[in-house]
Formats: sequence, C-alpha cells, structure tokens
Amino acid sequence: MTGEHQRKVALVTGATSGIGLAAAEAFVARGYATALVDRDQDSGRLVEARLRKSGECTYIHCDVTDDETVRRAVEHAISVYGRLDAAFNAAGIDGEAGKPTADCSMENWNRVLATDLTGVWSCMRYEIPEMLKTGGGAIVNCASTAGIVGAPYVPAYVAAKHGVVGLTKAAALEYARQGIRVNAVCPGIIETPMTRKGLTPDIKAKLLEESPIGRIGMPAEIAAAVLWLCDAGSSFLTGQAIAVDGGWTAR
Ligand code: NAI
Repeated sequence: MTGEHQRKVALVTGATSGIGLAAAEAFVARGYATALVDRDQDSGRLVEARLRKSGECTYIHCDVTDDETVRRAVEHAISVYGRLDAAFNAAGIDGEAGKPTADCSMENWNRVLATDLTGVWSCMRYEIPEMLKTGGGAIVNCASTAGIVGAPYVPAYVAAKHGVVGLTKAAALEYARQGIRVNAVCPGIIETPMTRKGLTPDIKAKLLEESPIGRIGMPAEIAAAVLWLCDAGSSFLTGQAIAVDGGWTAR
C-alpha cells in the first residue's frame, strides 16, 4: 500500500463555519486527509487554502439536501483520498425561531427536516458503504441538546435533532459488527455564526444564567469530543448521544 492509502481520511459536512470548521481544523491537525464538504463555495475555498498550510484537505461543494450532490461529494472524496475512516455530519440550520408548534410554517418544517435530519441520513447512506469496503470507521452525527430534551418555539429543530439521535442508534446497531461505530454529539449553546445570528442578547443572557458551567461553549470543545469519538480511545462506544453542554442536560 502507498502512504496515500495508509493515512486516515475524514469527511466533515458544514466544514466552513462554526462547529464543522473547528472539527475540520482538528482532523487536519491530527493528520487526517480531510474532505471539507459545504454548500458555501467562497468560504470553502478560503478554508481549504488556510488549512492546507497545516495539512491535507480538499473542499468539496455539496448541498446536503440534494441526495445526488451528496453521493457525488462522497465519491469525490474517495477519488481523491481512496478511503473513508471518519465522518462528522455537522451541516445544519436552526430555521425559524420563536413560533410554537401550531404556528411553525410548512416551509420551515420541510427546510429544517431536509437539512438537519434527511441531510444526515443522506450522508450516512454514502459514507457507510465506503467504510464497509475498508473494514469499518467512525461516524459522528451532530445533534444538539435539543435532540435529548425539548426546547420551546423551535419545533422543527427539536424534531430533527431527536431524529438524528434515533437514526444514530439505529445505524449503530446495524453496523456494530461490521466495524462501524456511530455516535451523536449533542452540543449545548456554542459560540458560532449560527448563535450569533439566531440568539437575541436577552435570550443569550437567560441561557447564560441557566448554564451550570456559567458560559457558552467554544467550537473547539465540540471538535475535541468529535475527534475522540473517531479515535481508537472510544473503541467500545457506539450508539450514544454525548451531550457536550456544560452540564445543561444534567438537571
Ligand atoms: P454555522 O451556521 O456556523 O455552520 C453551519 C455550516 O453548515 C455552514 O458552513 C453552512 O454553510 C453549512 N450548511 C448549512 N446547510 C447546508 C446544506 N444544506 N448543505 C451543506 N452545508 C450546509 O452553525 P454551527 O453553529 O456551527 O452548527 C453546526 C451544527 O451544530 C448544526 O448541525 C447545528 O444544528 C449544531 N448545533 C449547534 C449549536 C450551537 O450552539 N451553535 C448547538 C447544538 C447543535
């Protein structure tokens, strides 16, 4: 085998911003050849250029709501790097906030479910066969504390993230004996463009007051958990939804 094929390969969706970006940086720093998958082409090229200074990566344009582009993105990653060892499915949106369940628009419901739940399934359905070809791998899906407990006024988001946790468990059971571990990471409130846009100062202050640890988390703190979930150090761990939330769901 060539050196190219011995190197570990990771694929990260949502890799140009926030949590996905932090994970992509961590994979590259750890020596993974990393496919940076995102729909934001401009940021993708910039991130690729920056991360190439510290390791191997390739930006691949993809909208996770379009199954065919997801198929092509995974195919592209395999054509460049030859295999897939780790995948972090982090592309996501929060959608409309502030409306109770009966007032959630159909457009918002469909958009959030298509991105946050069907998008994750779409990625897994092309990642899994590639991992099976080389004897296994590790998949981490990005859920949320809203995948473990309810949160008011974001019904589509809560439904999608609970779905991600369920999907993670189903796939973990199906592929455990074939060497694929599947886990979900469930971030609490993390300082990213999503929360900078989506949370008013009032809501942020209230969340901080209620936070057991007394602060908002940083993307790198989620990335560290993701890297561990893809590492041999977590080899007996599959089908879990790991809250990385400063104690939020402990109450
Ligand atoms: P972000 O908005 O900073 O980054 C999201 C990334 O996903 C962007 O690069 C965006 O271009 C990409 N993306 C969105 N829709 C896409 C699509 N259809 N196809 C391809 N790429 C797409 O958001 P953030 O905060 O980094 O969120 C990442 C993940 O973490 C999401 O799944 C989010 O639900 C989850 N999360 C975030 C929390 C937070 O407090 N920031 C808390 C809990 C979960």
